[in-house]
Amino acid sequence: EKGGYDHFMLKEIHEQPKSIMDTMRGRLLVEKGIIQMAGIWDYQEKFLNAKRIIIISCGTSWHAGLIGEYLIEDLARIPVEVEYASEFRYRNPIITDEDIVIAISQSGETADTLAALKLAKEKGAFIYGICNVVDSSIARLTDAGSYTHAGPEIGVASTKAFTAQLAVLTMIAIKLAKHKGTISKEKFNSLLTELESIPVKVEQVIKDTEEQVKKIAELYVNVNNFLYLGRGYNYPVALEGALKLKEISYIHAEGYPAAEMKHGPIALIDENMPVVVIAPKTTHYDKIVSNIQEINSRKGKVIAIVTQEDSQVKNIVSQAIEIPAVSEYFVPILASVPLQLLAYDIAVMRGVNVDQPRNLAKSVTVE
Ligand code: M6R
Repeated sequence: EKGGYDHFMLKEIHEQPKSIMDTMRGRLLVEKGIIQMAGIWDYQEKFLNAKRIIIISCGTSWHAGLIGEYLIEDLARIPVEVEYASEFRYRNPIITDEDIVIAISQSGETADTLAALKLAKEKGAFIYGICNVVDSSIARLTDAGSYTHAGPEIGVASTKAFTAQLAVLTMIAIKLAKHKGTISKEKFNSLLTELESIPVKVEQVIKDTEEQVKKIAELYVNVNNFLYLGRGYNYPVALEGALKLKEISYIHAEGYPAAEMKHGPIALIDENMPVVVIAPKTTHYDKIVSNIQEINSRKGKVIAIVTQEDSQVKNIVSQAIEIPAVSEYFVPILASVPLQLLAYDIAVMRGVNVDQPRNLAKSVTVE
C-alpha cells in the first residue's frame, strides 16, 4: 500500500503533483476563464461584504492559513486574521454575524478546531470549511466549503494535504479578487494559467531536488538545532519547514520571519547552526540577501531555496536548492517540497519512525 515507497510520507510527497491537480480539477477552468467553486459562488454576497475573515486551525493547517492570509489580503483586499483554534476558543473572542470563519483541517476531526467553530457558529458567524476527509465532523458543521482532494494522508506529518490546502486557498483568493474587482482581468487570466502549471512544476522540483536534498541531509544529520527563515509569503513556509523537521526527526527547529532574526535568534548563530532560508527572486529579495550576509558573517551555514538561474544567492550560501521561477503567490507550494524531503531524509537517516513519530497522533481528537 506504500506503492513501492519506503514510507507513506515519501509516497505522499511524491503524490503532490496529482493531489494538487485533483484539488484543482473541475474548479480551475482556464479555457473558460473562471474558477468554479460552488461554495464561494453560492455565498458570494457574504464573502464580498465580509468585514473580515477569520481563519481557524492547528499545526500545519494553521501554517496554510497564514499563507491564506497573505493571499486573500494581497489579492482580494479583505482583512484576514489567522488564529490557533485552541487560543481562539478560550479567549472570549469578538465575533459577529458579519464575520466569515474559514476552518482548515485535514482530518476534519481536530478537537480544538471543532470546538472553536461551534463557538463561532453560536455567535452567528458564517463557517466555511477546507477539509480533506469527506463527511468529517468539521465538514458537517460548516455552512459551506471546498474539500481538498488530496486523498487519504497516512503519514502523521502532513504533506500533500498542506499543498492541497494551499491550492484551495489560492483559488479562493483569486476568485474573490476577481469578484471584488481588486485585480485586472489580465492579471486574473495570467494567475489562472500560472496556477494550472504548478503541478508540473512540483513534479519537476521533486525530480530535480530529491537526490541533492539527500546529500544535504547527510551533512546535517547530526546537528541539534535548525533555524528556518523566510519573509512575506515564505515566512509561514519557514514555520512549516521547521515543524516538519521537529516532528519527524526530533531535531529542535524554529521558524522565524527573517527580519525578526535580529530581535533575538541571531544570538544563536554560529558554525554549528544551520539556517534554512527561503530566498526566491521575488519581493523582498534584496532584504533576504542581506539577512543571508548577516548569517554568513557569524559563520552560520545557509541552505537556501533559490530561484533557478539566480546566481547571486547561490554564490553566498553553503547549499542552494533551486525551484522554478513563479509569481510569489505560488512559491510556498514549490518551496515546501524540498523542505518536506529534507525533514524526511534526516529522519530516515536518524533511524526514527517517520510515519508514526513518538507522542503524535494523526488526528488530535482530544484537546
Ligand atoms: O487534521 P488537522 O489539519 O486539523 O490537523 C492539525 C494538526 O494536528 C496537524 O497539521 C499536525 O500539526 C501535523 N502532524 C503536522 O504535520
